[in-house]
Amino acid sequence: MLRVAALVHWGLFRPCTGLSVRMSSSGVAQKGILANRVAVVTGSTDGIGLAIARRLAQDGAHVVVSSRKQQNVDRAVAMLQGEGLSVTGTVCHVGKAEDRERLVAKALEHSGSVDFLVCNAGVNPLVGSTLGASEKVWDKKGAVILISSIAAYIPHVELGAYNVSKTALLGLTRTLSLELAPRNIRVNCLVPGIIDTDFSKVLHKNKALWTSLNENLGLQRIGQPEDCAGLVSFLCSSDASYISGENIAVAGFSSRL
Ligand SMILES: NC(=O)c1ccc[n+]([C@@H]2O[C@H](COP(=O)([O-])OP(=O)(O)OC[C@H]3O[C@@H](n4cnc5c(N)ncnc54)[C@H](OP(=O)(O)O)[C@@H]3O)[C@@H](O)[C@H]2O)c1
Repeated sequence: MLRVAALVHWGLFRPCTGLSVRMSSSGVAQKGILANRVAVVTGSTDGIGLAIARRLAQDGAHVVVSSRKQQNVDRAVAMLQGEGLSVTGTVCHVGKAEDRERLVAKALEHSGSVDFLVCNAGVNPLVGSTLGASEKVWDKKGAVILISSIAAYIPHVELGAYNVSKTALLGLTRTLSLELAPRNIRVNCLVPGIIDTDFSKVLHKNKALWTSLNENLGLQRIGQPEDCAGLVSFLCSSDASYISGENIAVAGFSSRL
């Protein structure tokens, strides 16, 4: 049912999962806390993924951006390079094995290794009942890897399959962090609240859903993609070298006890 798309392919990606980090051996930062590192960010031509790609590059990493559409990749690469950042890009639909392999190859072109993998690509939430969701829907959800959602903690009745897939990512984070610890690979998960992107427009349009979600907004504002990006950079950095298996909400409130 919930199939984890094989961006998690250990032979190719050293660190893997939504937000995954190989620990620094030297801790040396020449231009920034992520200097001399290579990051791969899926779904990074818009929204949260683009903000993460920009921030990791601003902090010194070489970033490989990707998404399904060539024109979006070209636009994002041109924009980020225009800002003086070290980025390259390639088309990668995370549900397609050949695309994932091309993405890895592109990243390896730079320096022969991948230090950080941010699996951000998501799909539009199905609005409807969980039991009514077709097999096709569940298969599609399988391509969403480890950027979770506050819907994992606070499920909304109209986002059944989405809630479940995002909750599964919390468990995947914990399990992978244990499995990969012996290889010194840390695995963490960003849990965004409501962030102002194209993706969340579906929530804004649904007045009842928006009102109910709004009740949980502690800081009384919608989040911005940049609110998520700083945490990702921190978790990639050596400052987070003893943090693994965590699911961290960026939601303007806490969903934990
Ligand atoms: N926005 C929110 O309120 C919110 C809240 C909680 C969690 N999240 C999670 O955050 C992640 C990003 O959401 P967002 O709001 O930033 O979305 P967004 O603004 O719609 O951007 C999505 C990005 O992913 C790409 N993409 C979509 N499907 C893809 C696929 N199958 N393979 C590769 N790339 C794909 C898109 O480009 P192309 O069209 O070119 O592929 C685009 O670059 C998702 O996992 C989502 O579930 C978002």
